[in-house]
Amino acid sequence: AGFFTYDPGFMATASCHSAITYIDGEQGVLLYRGYPIDQLATKASFLEVAYLLLYSELPSEQELLDFERVITTHTMLNENLKNFLDGFHYDAHPMAILCGVVGSLSAFYHESIDVHDPHYREVSAHRLIAKVPTIAAAAYKHNVGEPIMYPRNDLRYGANFLHMMFATPCTDYEPELLAEKALNLLFILHADHEQNASTSTVRLAGSSGANPFACVAAGIASLWGPAHGGANEAVLDMLHQIGDVSNVPKYIDKAKDKDDPFRLMGFGHRVYKNYDPRAKIIREVCHQVLEEMPGANSPLFDLALKLEEIALHDEYFVERKLYPNVDFYSGIIYSALGIPRNMFTVMFALARTVGWVSHWMEMMSDPANRIGRPRQIYCGPQQRDYVPISKR
Ligand code: CMC
Repeated sequence: AGFFTYDPGFMATASCHSAITYIDGEQGVLLYRGYPIDQLATKASFLEVAYLLLYSELPSEQELLDFERVITTHTMLNENLKNFLDGFHYDAHPMAILCGVVGSLSAFYHESIDVHDPHYREVSAHRLIAKVPTIAAAAYKHNVGEPIMYPRNDLRYGANFLHMMFATPCTDYEPELLAEKALNLLFILHADHEQNASTSTVRLAGSSGANPFACVAAGIASLWGPAHGGANEAVLDMLHQIGDVSNVPKYIDKAKDKDDPFRLMGFGHRVYKNYDPRAKIIREVCHQVLEEMPGANSPLFDLALKLEEIALHDEYFVERKLYPNVDFYSGIIYSALGIPRNMFTVMFALARTVGWVSHWMEMMSDPANRIGRPRQIYCGPQQRDYVPISKR
């Protein structure tokens, strides 16, 4: 017995107090620790934002240098972890590899299991921020059959990631400044988004006292779904499926048809019922990247713009307040940077790791933290007696 509030999808339930990220979905506002996302995305570096999310305040010059130094000391992977990674089938999805390998980090850092020690909590947070890019790039290399590249600690966070992705033992890779800039911006835009499905998953897993590597692996699993982080990959699939600007009206009709499971990927958001503020920033960069990067796929972008234009004026989408979200554009930029589709959600996970560990740290130091345990409204059979198998 018991009467509980029925709230599927947690539309009206606050699960915690948090001082990290503020969203006003009606006004299209997103703040990290009080700072507007557009200011951070255009002025700060990703590690500066990571510091802000983790430690509540923007770092001084010295604090940032120290933080960068700490992160770079943790970028390497244990050789045995690389052997583990090699065991994956050659065509394993990089998200499957990321999820498994991040989860396995707890087997290498036993002290992380002591989640009650604030020092080890902080070290684990640093390790995750440092190692996830190395694992992500290694998952890509495994997929394409190239040797894993060691991190280069003389490079900035984004540039090092591009190096690990695109350099080989016999060819250096000098990332273009615009590519690095675009990546920095995308990482900042994806760094946190309060109690989304994956962050709530990290918190729920962590509420039982599970170690941070296991919690973040759970977050990665949750992010993978197409309604969440998988949307950027799904957007590109959809654009390829539509194929040509002339087919856009047909697909708009499909998206409106309730008997058709097709949805416009990259449209709509649970919280933003106005324009997604991240989409506004990313749209501009998308233009810039496509204009300046050689090999950028502009017919695809034209298609995306046409889709956006029609949907923004269509009664169905207007009535339901369905606007393009951040992932409508991120995949197009990643494509222009040469990052393949099956890596898009991995890119999201890499950036969101900062948000996940910040929330996990916040939760672990919150005296009000207790194990998450939602209730249910039971709708199964009444009590009944067991019937022997011969009588059924
Ligand atoms: N295309 C067509 N119709 C849609 C779409 C869409 N993309 N999104 C919502 N609707 C309709 C939906 O059918 C429903 O219509 P009705 O009221 O007539 O039944 C109405 O709009 C409300 O939709 P909902 O599914 O109840 O809304 P939700 O808040 O549960 O879902 C969402 C939010 C993001 C899962 C959904 O909009 C969606 O599936 N979008 C496409 C996937 C996507 O782009 N996801 C990325 C989200 S942003 C990145 C992140 O933070 O993870």
